[in-house]
Amino acid sequence: MELVKTSDLKKYYRTGEVCVKALDHVNLSVEEGEFIAVVGPSGCGKTTLLNMLGGLDNPTDGTVLIHGKDITKMKSEELTIYRRKHIGFVFQNYNLLQTLNVKSNILLPLYLGNSKIDEAYFEEIVEILGIKNKLKNLPNTLSGGQQQRVAIARAMITKPDIVLADEPTGNLDSESSEEVLRLLRESGERYNQTIIMITHSREIAETASRIIRMRDGKIV
Ligand SMILES: Nc1ncnc2c1ncn2[C@@H]1O[C@H](COP(=O)(O)OP(=O)(O)OP(=O)(O)O)[C@@H](O)[C@H]1O
Ligand SMILES: [Mg+2]
Repeated sequence: MELVKTSDLKKYYRTGEVCVKALDHVNLSVEEGEFIAVVGPSGCGKTTLLNMLGGLDNPTDGTVLIHGKDITKMKSEELTIYRRKHIGFVFQNYNLLQTLNVKSNILLPLYLGNSKIDEAYFEEIVEILGIKNKLKNLPNTLSGGQQQRVAIARAMITKPDIVLADEPTGNLDSESSEEVLRLLRESGERYNQTIIMITHSREIAETASRIIRMRDGKIV
């Protein structure tokens, strides 16, 4: 089934006289359960695309349908609720809250969304991600790879349909990268999640079920 569809998606950034076409007529269709790698040179629009798919920013023109619903037309409150329910984000720099321990970081999206904890699911994902014995730690006592696994657990705790990951392994050595990636893919398969991941690594891209190449704001 089609999960995500963009139609003629455009994002132009104007700075003074200069106009950058960060996204230029992007038509993308993603099926449920796909594991997609987005690749392309620096500045080609990868992060911009991910932000639009996740409703983190408004396009200049075009639509983003998720489950057939146009998220670009939603009011901000509706979009926030929708995002919390359906979309998980993993960022390159982890974005963990340093004053909260690992468990609270993972559960944060549930607190924010006023949702109940599925204890069994929580136990399962921290087990899979290998952070079960780190739940009381503060993030800065963990290695980069461990912090990224916490970030993945946090993205997954709401059981999102889609996980959007912007260079999730960008800060990791190749061994931890492989590990984090394997976990991401395995949990995607296990929970029937669709994963869209930006990467600069050819090896990592080749593990995906589909590679999307971008250049100058276009899918090529
Ligand atoms: N807030 C902004 N204001 C103005 N220009 C922006 C803004 N955000 C991005 N851009 C421009 O849009 C283009 C696409 O940026 P984007 O961050 O999507 O690239 P990217 O493919 O993710 O690059 P990288 O691989 O370096 O992360 C770039 O030319 C960038 O300078
Ligand atoms: Mg980027």
